[in-house]
Amino acid sequence: MKLAAPPLLLLLLLLAVLGFCWGRQHHDNDEDDEPELLVQPSRFGSLWPLPQKVQLSRDALKLTGLSFRIVDGKESTVGASCALLQNAYRRYYEYIFGSPKRQGLYKSRRAAPPELTELQVVITSTDSECDAYPSVNSDESYELSVNRSSAILKAPKVWGALHGLETFSQLVYEDEHGAKTINATVISDFPRFAYRGILLDSSRHFLPVQVLLANLETMAMNKINVFHWHIVDDPSFPYLSRTFPQLSQQGAYHPYTHVYTPADVKMVIEFARLRGIRVIPEFDTPGHTQSWGKGQKDLLTPCYSGSTPSGSFGPVNPILNTTYDFMKAFFKEVSTVFPDAYVHLGGDEVDFTCWRTNPDIQRFMEQHSFGKDYSKLESFYIQKLLDIVGGTNKGYIIWQEVFDNGVKLKADTIIHVWKGNQQQYQSEMANVTSAGYKTLLSTPWYLNRISYGQDWHVHYKADPQDFTGTAEQKKLVIGGEACLWGEYVDGTNLTPRLWPRASAVAERLWSAKDVTNLGDAYNRLSAHRCRMVERGIAAEPLFVSSCPREYRGI
Ligand SMILES: *[C@@H]1O[C@H](CO)[C@@H](O)[C@H](O)[C@H]1NC(C)=O
Ligand SMILES: *[C@@H]1O[C@H](CO)[C@@H](O)[C@H](O)[C@H]1NC(C)=O
Ligand SMILES: *[C@@H]1O[C@H](CO)[C@@H](O)[C@H](O)[C@H]1NC(C)=O
Ligand SMILES: *[C@@H]1O[C@H](CO)[C@@H](O)[C@H](O)[C@H]1NC(C)=O
Repeated sequence: MKLAAPPLLLLLLLLAVLGFCWGRQHHDNDEDDEPELLVQPSRFGSLWPLPQKVQLSRDALKLTGLSFRIVDGKESTVGASCALLQNAYRRYYEYIFGSPKRQGLYKSRRAAPPELTELQVVITSTDSECDAYPSVNSDESYELSVNRSSAILKAPKVWGALHGLETFSQLVYEDEHGAKTINATVISDFPRFAYRGILLDSSRHFLPVQVLLANLETMAMNKINVFHWHIVDDPSFPYLSRTFPQLSQQGAYHPYTHVYTPADVKMVIEFARLRGIRVIPEFDTPGHTQSWGKGQKDLLTPCYSGSTPSGSFGPVNPILNTTYDFMKAFFKEVSTVFPDAYVHLGGDEVDFTCWRTNPDIQRFMEQHSFGKDYSKLESFYIQKLLDIVGGTNKGYIIWQEVFDNGVKLKADTIIHVWKGNQQQYQSEMANVTSAGYKTLLSTPWYLNRISYGQDWHVHYKADPQDFTGTAEQKKLVIGGEACLWGEYVDGTNLTPRLWPRASAVAERLWSAKDVTNLGDAYNRLSAHRCRMVERGIAAEPLFVSSCPREYRGI
């Protein structure tokens, strides 16, 4: 044993060295498409998403928490009564200078001139929309000018002012002595697409309200303006309905701790509104409804095994009048709880297996001459549902299958494309728009699909207007949505999985079509990621790098 030890040690050492080399080689091979190993400053600083027009200068001004103020400009059409703006001023002041506690450290320091002491915010339209809800037609444009004599943010509506405040905060950086600094700048900005959404799924895992709010806050940092709330699905029904409380009583993971009460929903909607974000709920039917069946008797189709019910249930039962009475009452409530002009009605992935086994369904199919084509039965249901929801004065968004099955749709219906590979979704976008419908793209942006490496490149390169079609067709593309489905996601990993990967989608949907330089995007996005971290958001790194102030947990 004694004699054997040194050779054994040598062997281990040799193995360790080999392993090290192999490991390095493995890394080199794996990462050879990395744009840069070190983050370089972009000539656009840390702006994300990149504004439409930016003129940066090298004239640097200083700001201190002691003297700097964000104020209503004298010519503004709104005064201090606009709580939305006052809230935003406070929020951005804190983002720029830190919380009042941290600021104490800098209090005694005076800025060396030239100093910037205020940002004036001017709303130019007589209807500021301060108390309104944002919509797909909201004016989100703004103009920002910072120089030695003044800093002025001008926007027709409050929505543009919110975006301009975020942009202003992104212009502030620390010089080599840690002093807050901003360069003289002129920016003129507006979004390329009006609809820039993120889908979160609160059915597969319950997402506590705090998690939703933290992500709304982060959406605002990325100029995302729609929260698509996939609130219920097969696994659970956390929406507490006033009209049908038994739905969550029976269908939620827990009837008290894992539900969204009317007060919770209200809070989410108002928190989003204050950040210029629409909340569009999805109540997906007739598939994806297992959890609905627990609290609503006879809503789902009983499946049969031979000539007897098997005890399991399929999609919503489309042949009963009671189904439509229920839907009418349910969507009447939904239309009053959620102020947005649109509701998402789902309609995806309807499994016909159960319908096929049910003798009552078979009889109904014969009576209506549907033959063996169950997509006709699905269309029969959707048609009736759309008529019901149409009667509540809401518009609707539906997943692409409803269009594919040839259901007759209202002219203002939005078709949500999510299926297929690139060739297939581009063909679908062409078909949907040539039929004259507005459309949203999600296929390339399923962020729940994860892989090793920088998959944000793929998300960043996808462009929703890249398909064969006329200019008129391209105009019908109103935007897109990043989706984070919840099979493997709850409050523990939602934020790092979503950010900054969703930021790539945010820039694609906001910035000009020709903003496609991956190297420049990498540098800006790395800095933007560090800014999110500094603001307390657990956004994951893009690659090997460091932040001035690392994430320290909560
Ligand atoms: C801001 O100005 C300084 C010089 O004063 C310059 O070094 C820096 O690159 C400028 N930053 C941007 C983003 O233009
Ligand atoms: C500074 O910005 C204001 C507001 O946009 C503008 O009117 C003024 O001409 C600018 N001053 C200089 C020196 O560029
Ligand atoms: C369901 O409604 C239709 C149309 O109103 C009616 O003709 C039919 O008799 C009703 N069926 C039942 C079982 O009530
Ligand atoms: C689009 O329409 C064409 C012509 O009807 C059809 O061949 C094609 O399959 C459709 N694309 C998709 C993705 O359904």
